[in-house]
Amino acid sequence: MKATVLALLVSVAAGIAVSEARAADLAIACSALGKERELCQEGIDEWAKRTGNTVHIVSAPNSATERLALYQQLLAARALDIDVFQIDVVWPGILARDLVDLTEIAGPRADDHLPAMVKSATVDGRFVAMPWFADVGLLYYRKDLLEAAGRPVPRSLAELAETAQLVQERQRAAGDPGFWGYVWQGRAYEGLTVNALEWIASSGGGTIIDDAGAVTINNPRAAGALSLAAGLVGTISPRGVLNYTEEEARGVFQSGHALFMRNWPYAWALGESPDSTVKGRIGFAPLPAGEPTETSHAVLGGQLLAVSAYSANRELAIDLVMYLTGREEQKRRALAGSVNPTIPALFDDADIRRDAPFIAQLRPIFEGAVARPSAVTRSSYNKVSARFFDAVHQVLSGSLGAGPALERLAQALRREGTRRGWAKGSAEGSAK
Ligand code: GLC
Repeated sequence: MKATVLALLVSVAAGIAVSEARAADLAIACSALGKERELCQEGIDEWAKRTGNTVHIVSAPNSATERLALYQQLLAARALDIDVFQIDVVWPGILARDLVDLTEIAGPRADDHLPAMVKSATVDGRFVAMPWFADVGLLYYRKDLLEAAGRPVPRSLAELAETAQLVQERQRAAGDPGFWGYVWQGRAYEGLTVNALEWIASSGGGTIIDDAGAVTINNPRAAGALSLAAGLVGTISPRGVLNYTEEEARGVFQSGHALFMRNWPYAWALGESPDSTVKGRIGFAPLPAGEPTETSHAVLGGQLLAVSAYSANRELAIDLVMYLTGREEQKRRALAGSVNPTIPALFDDADIRRDAPFIAQLRPIFEGAVARPSAVTRSSYNKVSARFFDAVHQVLSGSLGAGPALERLAQALRREGTRRGWAKGSAEGSAK
């Protein structure tokens, strides 16, 4: 018995010596949106301290579309430089074959996470990424300015436009010529896919492609929603919004020059931070519905952590991912950065309820959130999304009417779906 214990101790000691001898330097690509880089740094520092390894951050572009292009280049070149990638909830189907299957280690913990995030992480039965945080689109507003104008938080886009126009005129007359009613993300990139899908889904116009693979985008409600949005540009939203990502919109809102903003939860902690011009004067609500009779739907966003199939430090990289996506770290990030956890049990956590009530209030908005059609279109999602945001951008910039733009888009999407085998009916069509 004694001998067995001794042998065990010796082998444990040897294990420690070996892992110390092999202390590695890992690289993680994480986003720098708002406070994200700082939060990522704090998390990896803690893991490094606990394990004796080092980790450095490789900065990834803020624009989701540019980030994906960079990742695809690195993975296609089988680059060894990055061990862990922060990936978007809509990318697992695109990147799956270059990512390590985490089923064995992470599988037992999957049930702790939001089912929608787990679903997106699972490609052909392989669990290729651990959910890290969940995003949902929100309407931010200036409480003080709404109160002064005697207006409620708008529930429809038309109501929002009317209030925005009124307050915009007042603020401009009061000496802020650069004041705008509504800022959002209108650049031709993934963020525009999100904004436009929110307008469309909240107008009863569907989700571009349904779960079965039918292209549904060419419908009058979707066209109506896009025409309405196009009418915002140059009236209550600056023309520059056509080149805004999340951070440009936040810049205008947080410096006090906009009444309303569409953005993700991360903007809350920053808007309420000590150096924010609008601290204490902002509120958030569900996004407006497209029509007063419709239900508002935010788009589900979020990020996961995945291990590169080409990592030379696979086991350590998995350990890092499990630490960063674990309960303790998700709780810390929720408290420090209003980053929404993917572990629903944390919504009921006493500290989060007390110190980050914002998080608990997001719950109903998550319940009505819609997903982008990434599960059904899988590896062609980025093409589908690019076609969609390009078409929407044309409508917003006035170069094409919503009707013809959507008709053309639907044809292109059907062709893509038939070629790639996801379009409804294409399975029969391609079965020769
Ligand atoms: C956020 C979301 C992500 C979305 C992106 C669009 O990063 O988490 O899901 O694709 O914004 O800009």
